[in-house]
Formats: sequence, C-alpha cells, structure tokens
Amino acid sequence: MCGIVGYLGPAKAAPVLISELRCLEYRGYDSAGVAIIQDGQLSVLKAAGKLGNLEKLISERKPTATVGIGHTRWATHGVPNDQNAHPHLDNSKTIAVVHNGIIENYEEIKEELAKAGYTFESDTDTEVVAHVISQEYEKEQDMLKAIFKAVGRLRGAYALGVVSQKHPDKIYAVNQHYSLSVGLGHNESFLASDSMAVRQYTNKVVRLEQSEVAEITVDGVRLFAFDGKEVKRRPVSLDSNPYVIDKGGYKHFLLKEIHEQPLVLRQTLAKYLVHPTKPVSFIPHITPHGNQPTSPSLPTNNEEDNLLSKSYGVHLTDMELKGIDRIQVVACGTAYHASLIGKQIIEHLCNIPVAVDIASEVRGRRLMVNESSLTIAVSQSGETADTLSALESAKKLGSFTLGITNRPDSHLAQITPNLIVTECGIEVSVAATKTYLAQLTAFYLLGIFLAEKRGSITPEQAKGLKTQLNAVPTLLEQILARESDIRTASLKYADAHDVVFIGRGLNFPTALEGALKLKELSYIHASGYAAGELKHGPIAVLDSKVPVVTIIVPGSVYEKTLSNAQEARARNAQMIAVAVEGDELVAKHFDTVLSIPPVDEFFSPLLTVVPLQLMSYFIADYLGKDVDQPRNLAKSVTVE
Ligand code: M6R
Repeated sequence: MCGIVGYLGPAKAAPVLISELRCLEYRGYDSAGVAIIQDGQLSVLKAAGKLGNLEKLISERKPTATVGIGHTRWATHGVPNDQNAHPHLDNSKTIAVVHNGIIENYEEIKEELAKAGYTFESDTDTEVVAHVISQEYEKEQDMLKAIFKAVGRLRGAYALGVVSQKHPDKIYAVNQHYSLSVGLGHNESFLASDSMAVRQYTNKVVRLEQSEVAEITVDGVRLFAFDGKEVKRRPVSLDSNPYVIDKGGYKHFLLKEIHEQPLVLRQTLAKYLVHPTKPVSFIPHITPHGNQPTSPSLPTNNEEDNLLSKSYGVHLTDMELKGIDRIQVVACGTAYHASLIGKQIIEHLCNIPVAVDIASEVRGRRLMVNESSLTIAVSQSGETADTLSALESAKKLGSFTLGITNRPDSHLAQITPNLIVTECGIEVSVAATKTYLAQLTAFYLLGIFLAEKRGSITPEQAKGLKTQLNAVPTLLEQILARESDIRTASLKYADAHDVVFIGRGLNFPTALEGALKLKELSYIHASGYAAGELKHGPIAVLDSKVPVVTIIVPGSVYEKTLSNAQEARARNAQMIAVAVEGDELVAKHFDTVLSIPPVDEFFSPLLTVVPLQLMSYFIADYLGKDVDQPRNLAKSVTVE
C-alpha cells in the first residue's frame, strides 16, 4: 500500500528519496511527497497523482537538503489530493510525519486535540500523529521520549517516519505491526518500508520488529522498545544484487511477468525437486532472492561480517507431518484462488481435510485449528495485513504454521518457522500473474511432499506426478507462442460490460482468477462461478451481450462443464472456451477457443489461467488502461 522512505548522509536527499520511492510506487500511487530539512528549515513538497508529479516539483525547486523522509500514498482517510498527501506537519510546522497503516482511534484523538486548540489541514488520520508527537515534545523536550509517549496514545497497526527541524541530524521511525527497514551505508543511512528500496544503495539492513522505535543517524541506528528499553539487533545481509526493475523490452511489466512464467516454474521446481525419483525436499537453504535474518547485537554503519543466517524450508519432523489431521489455508485475492486449488491438490494426494478461508474473514471468528493442525498462509508479498493477522490467530490456537511467499525478507517470513519461497523475482505489476503460478507450483510440491511423508502415494505415483510437473514449463512456452492469436481473439470482446467466467473442480478457482484479472486490469465487470452454479441464479444476467468464458479440459468434469456451457449458449451468450487444442466438441459449441496444449486435468490449472491473463492484458491495453498500476489498487495491502 503506502510506502515510506528516508535518507540522511552526504548526498542530496531529494533524488535519493525519489529513487527509493520509485521502487515502492507500485505499492501506492495516489500521491507522493517529501519533507526535507534545508538550512535548518523543514520544508514539504507534495503532489497528487503519480510520482512523476512530485519529481517535477523537485526538479523545479532543486533542494540541496541532505536529510529527508518521503511517502507514496494509497488513500484510506481522505481523497487523494495535495492536502491529504503525506508528509503531514504539526501546527508549529517543525515536525513532519509519513505514515503507513491506520490510526484506529484518530477521531477520538482529533477531538481531544481540537479542544486543545490544534487545527487540521487534511482529512487524514496521519495528521493527528504529527500533532500528538508535537504535544508530547512540548512537555518532554526530547524527541524519543515524545515518540514513546505518542505511541502509547495511538491504536492500530502502523509504521511512521518522522523528522524534526529541531533535530536535523536524525530520522525517527516507528513500527507497530508493520514493516520498516533501515539501510546502513558508509556515513549514510536509509529508511524504507520495503528493503527493496534501499537495496540499490546498501545490502546491509536492520529490520524493525513489532512495537519498536528507531533513531537513525548517518552513523547507524539505535532501536528501542515502546517502553524505552534499548534493543540490540545485528543487521541482515540482503542479496548483493539489487532487484532489477526493468521491463526488459516489453511494453508493460505485466506482459513481461506473464512471459517469465516458464522460467519461474523451472526455478521453483529446480529448488525443491532434484529428480523425479527423489523425494520433494523443502530443505533449509538461503534463497537466491533472499536475505539472511538476524540475531541481536548493536548495528552501526561500520559493523562488518557479523551477519548471521537462518535457514528457510519446512522444519516439521516426520512425526509432526504424519500427525497433521487438518490443514487450514488463509490468503487474499489471487493467493486465495491459488489456495482453493491447493486444497484440492492436497486433499486428492494426502486425504487430509483442507479448509480455505479468505483471511479477512477470519477476524472475529474462531479458526478450527489446534495442535494437530497446519495453518498455511499464502501471500506473494508476505505483508498482507489480513493474512498475517489470520496466521497469528492460528498460532495462538497452537497450530503448526507454514508460509508460502515470494518475499523471504517479508513480515510473513518472520512470524512462521516454516517457509516455502517461490522463485519469481520481484513482481512489479499490481496484478499477480507469475506469483500465482508459482503459488500453485508450491501447492503441487507441498501435496507431493506431504503424500510422500505420509505414504498416501506410491513412489511410482510420485515419480509420475513429478515428471508431469517438470513438463509444464515447456507447455507454458507453447501457450505464450500463441500470444498474437489470443490477442486477436480477445479483442473481439473488448467492448463487453459484463463477462462471466465458469469452471468446475480444479478450474473453478481458475474462473475466479480469470474474472479477477479482467476486472482489475480492464475495469470491465466480471464474475467467476462454479459452472454448476450458473443455473442457480447467475444465468439471469446472460443475454447476447454477455461473453461467457468456460474453462473446460478433458477429465472428470468435462461433460458436466460442457452441459453448463450449453445452458449459457441457449441464452444467446457469446461463448469463449479455454480448452485443449483439437477438441472438436468445444470447436462445435463455442464461438472462440483459446487453446492450450493437451494436459492432465490434475495439472491443468497451471495452463488454463495463462490465456486468461493474456486476454485481460490485451483488452486492458487496447482500452488504454494503466495496466501495471490499475486505479484504486495497491500491490501490497497492509491495512485490514
Ligand atoms: O501479497 P498477497 O499475495 O498477500 O496479496 C493478496 C492480494 O492482495 C493480491 O493477490 C491481489 O488480489 C492481486 N492484485 C491480484 O492480482
């Protein structure tokens, strides 16, 4: 969602802040701003809209300040405009605050402050934080003490970056159930809500844990718990190669990421599957994209060679794995769709009941897990607040936990001892594509892994499954080679206002995912249904203007799916199929076929989604939509 950055050192702060913000812009892009301290004066530059607007402002003013904080916003309180853009100032205009998350009791605090004579310039919850810190500073005359007092008055999950004109050699940061990292360079320090943003400058970072305050100088960082006690922690070492954020010749990141899928699958498979005759192994390892988490000690910018490592992987014993009698999966959005397929994979291979819940729906409910359950949180970013909170609830009930993520440096990686890391590289486009396929791959591998451990499949069956899985990347390449046919076929439906997606069994979640991709990219209304549900209500919306996309592959539900599609055809709907090439029945009953190579039904979700991703992309691009940064969305959804 929103992004926080900061810099202090010898260089001009504004260009550094902009380049850090550039890395985070995909997480929120309603407005952006910076607060810098120039010649002893705090000044704020901010602009509604994309980061380019702020960049323009900065290039006109050419500030030479060497300390500052910055922000890119995804609006929660108050419309996206200049006034509501961060940073926000206190009334004395000496303290500036940038903020991710939500201050839940801001109305209450605002009322108190208003009674005390404070005035407000924005509709945000953030502005109260600047005033509260300022109010406490009046009493304490010490920034750290003022911040400790202020956080005692705030409720919610949030991260803050703070600068004060009275302390121009420091940046303060606060983390409360959020994510913040301090990058340590040579006589310079950086702040970012995603370590990816500092990676271009340094590979040494200190991550703030929950309920911590950081005092950052050019020499390093001091950490404190909210009660004021100093905390010692060593820095972690990030992969020394910065993430390359580059379209690689493609028109959009999205198209590039769709095309990266065969490679992503090969990489994820190579990591956990040595050979079809060998068991799947989630062995402890340090990932190519990953970092090495920490252990306590005082970090300074001069500290070298004290970086400790932790291993990722699944650390449950064979006995624990055999004792699991229920699996609960929690996830949101696309990750939820992958999890619905994951459920079917695991139930089919392992005979363990699997429940999947939308993570936000777990709040206020009792999860049915205990000491013999495994709760799996699936999140590409590893920062989704709803998913993290659901996993924490399961932990409290004694469940084993496992994360599936693309970000080994994420919050999710910190809160579960078991982690399967997908090998996607950074996914820049807000719409998830390659990470979805990688999450599915992780579920296939996990299903085989559990089945091997529990003896629910024979070695021969396991070998067959792994061989088929290894063949998938080549099949994906065959689909991508048909891209221009998919474009031509898709554009016939670009003027639709409503599109219905249907599928059964393993491809019901594909229908949900196809509909989500189309609506988030093109803003065309789309809904996904279990094909058998069409007749229970949704069929009422069908007429000759509504395209119906049916995902239909040979296997256990082929005929029933075809019958459901016929029901739509009988209502004059425009009929599109995602089906295997050469299927004559499909050719007969559908107006348009987006074909995939022949594939076993069990693995078909790895293929069927790809024509749907491309279809959504081509329609959105044709309609002139902002493909990589669709309106109203953010890549990492860090509010509940
Ligand atoms: O980072 P996560 O996987 O936890 O994100 C979950 C959803 O916010 C995400 O999948 C979202 O639905 C995507 N924009 C879909 O393309």
